[in-house]
Amino acid sequence: MGKKIRVVVLFGGRSGEHEVSLNSAASVMAALDKEKYDLIPVAITRDGRWVSGVTPEQMAAGADPLELSGTGGGVETVTLPADPTNRALTVLEKGRAGKTAAEVDVVFPVLHGTFGEDGTVQGLLELANVPYVGAGVLGSALGMDKVLMKTVLAQHGVPQARFWPCLRRDWEGDPAAVIAGVERILGYPCFVKPANLGSSVGVSKAHDREGLVRALNVAARYDRKIIVEEFVSAREVEVSVLGNDDPIASVPGEIIPLKEFYDYEAKYVDGLSELKVPADLPPDVVGRLQDLAVKVFKVLDCSGMARVDFFIRRADGEVLVNEINTIPGFTRFSMYPKLWEATGIGYRELLDRLIDLAIERHRDRARSRTDFTPPGR
Ligand SMILES: Nc1ncnc2c1ncn2[C@@H]1O[C@H](COP(=O)(O)OP(=O)(O)O)[C@@H](O)[C@H]1O
Ligand SMILES: [Mg+2]
Repeated sequence: MGKKIRVVVLFGGRSGEHEVSLNSAASVMAALDKEKYDLIPVAITRDGRWVSGVTPEQMAAGADPLELSGTGGGVETVTLPADPTNRALTVLEKGRAGKTAAEVDVVFPVLHGTFGEDGTVQGLLELANVPYVGAGVLGSALGMDKVLMKTVLAQHGVPQARFWPCLRRDWEGDPAAVIAGVERILGYPCFVKPANLGSSVGVSKAHDREGLVRALNVAARYDRKIIVEEFVSAREVEVSVLGNDDPIASVPGEIIPLKEFYDYEAKYVDGLSELKVPADLPPDVVGRLQDLAVKVFKVLDCSGMARVDFFIRRADGEVLVNEINTIPGFTRFSMYPKLWEATGIGYRELLDRLIDLAIERHRDRARSRTDFTPPGR
């Protein structure tokens, strides 16, 4: 066997979904084939510092990685310099770049939400010229911003719930105009969400004007951009997508929330929702979901992986796209890997494929020239 591929697993992060990431990363680390890969865990603290050698389990148990830093065993405060010729984690000593900690072959960002799933980390990895798992800068950013995501999808004729975007500034400056707009275009009940969050954080259902005011105030705490959507009484189904320019779709799975909707608690507290894999759906609906999932993935310029979430409207069976998640939950019990398992790709093989796709995408991008000599020089 050849040289092992050195994989940096990034987890934690400056995000409301920090804990969720620790669970996903623990599963990913446990399953990655140690014969093939040399793993370096890198914990990102809540304030955004990177510490190598600390495991997701240690973080989940409340360890302070900065306290552990420098105590040996590869536990160091590190950074990834935006230096494409170097491609190495570099130890930070007293805030300055010091010795090289480890050269990196692939980065697997197992980060959900802000500063991880939104294109920011991806931008750093591009500058550093390191292959990484999942969507690039644009796909990540589009997938994260619900207003831009929906605007681009609408342009491509993808069916969705009606929506009304607004800025926190609009809401704070002229609340009456926002309320009037929502009532005119959408009515009640409606859903109010911060544009750039996940795990249902800051999402609420408004049943009347009073509820709308409350919901807008909550959403405005989390983001400068807010989206309000018409309520769709629907079954919720999800499809996993895997690949780069020629992606494939899994069988769909269904979420059955036992609460009013699929909120944070329903997502992460055992017993408050059920996953039905595969979903019980007629073949033509399955085909429609899979075609739309691949279309959404391509239109939003994604790569590697994504989970596309749908509503199937109860009134008429119409399939509507709710959203895409470019770094979906990745524990063994999460929908993304479960759907692949049901489609015939086991958890470990899925990780192998994602790493291969990261390397393939990086190679393909490296084929594009970044120099140009105008004719006649
Ligand atoms: N327009 C809507 N109609 C009905 N339910 C909705 C609507 N939008 C969101 N929901 C409910 O809220 C949950 C979270 O909303 P979602 O847009 O998926 O946010 P997040 O990115 O936080 O997962 C959904 O899974 C669904 O249960
Ligand atoms: Mg969702």
